[in-house]
Amino acid sequence: MSIKLGDTAPDFTAPSTQGDIKFHQWIGDGWAVLFSHPKDFTPVCTTELGEVAKLKSEFEKRHCKVIGLSVDSVDEHEKWASDIEETQGVALNFPLIGDPDRSVANLYGMIHPKALDTLTVRSVFVIGPDKKVKLTLTYPASTGRNFQEILRTIDSLQLTAKHQVATPVNWKHGEDVIIVPALSDEQAKEKFPGGWKTLKPYLRVVAQPK
Ligand code: BEZ
Repeated sequence: MSIKLGDTAPDFTAPSTQGDIKFHQWIGDGWAVLFSHPKDFTPVCTTELGEVAKLKSEFEKRHCKVIGLSVDSVDEHEKWASDIEETQGVALNFPLIGDPDRSVANLYGMIHPKALDTLTVRSVFVIGPDKKVKLTLTYPASTGRNFQEILRTIDSLQLTAKHQVATPVNWKHGEDVIIVPALSDEQAKEKFPGGWKTLKPYLRVVAQPK
């Protein structure tokens, strides 16, 4: 199944290192990142999971929960967790879904047979409070993800949701943003009474709303 932006994130119940997860209920009324990694006891995955554990408070600041998945069992995840703590200097502090029958991996299209025939690739789904998929990323097994970039995309998505602004190339939190084309100048005056810079009628730059 291929999941498109704007689709409702498929709901599921699955075992995890923090007990059974009913996905939509677990998300609650905030944001969520669901990410897959190919396999337990593999090097790149070990570094990624350590990094996500270190960044947990950054996700929390954004009212965003994180949950990982691989096609190994929860028992295997639990054995691997001590290696993650030993080598990355941080304990796993978010749930890892066990998916040995690949039911969640198949539901989310995380298995790309031409890349890895039975294992999940590095998929990322950012899901909003309305349970819709806001962003997807797919990396091959050999390329570890940049989770600072994933935090940056969450900042951008949340600004768009709240303030009807878009974020330009290489934007970082605190930098100027762009008023979305769907907003007329009249509507923009109400939202941005401090004004904005019009470089072209379709390119209106404004300070990042607080
Ligand atoms: C890794 O996490 O290092 C990895 C996993 C599967 C294939 C290649 C690399």
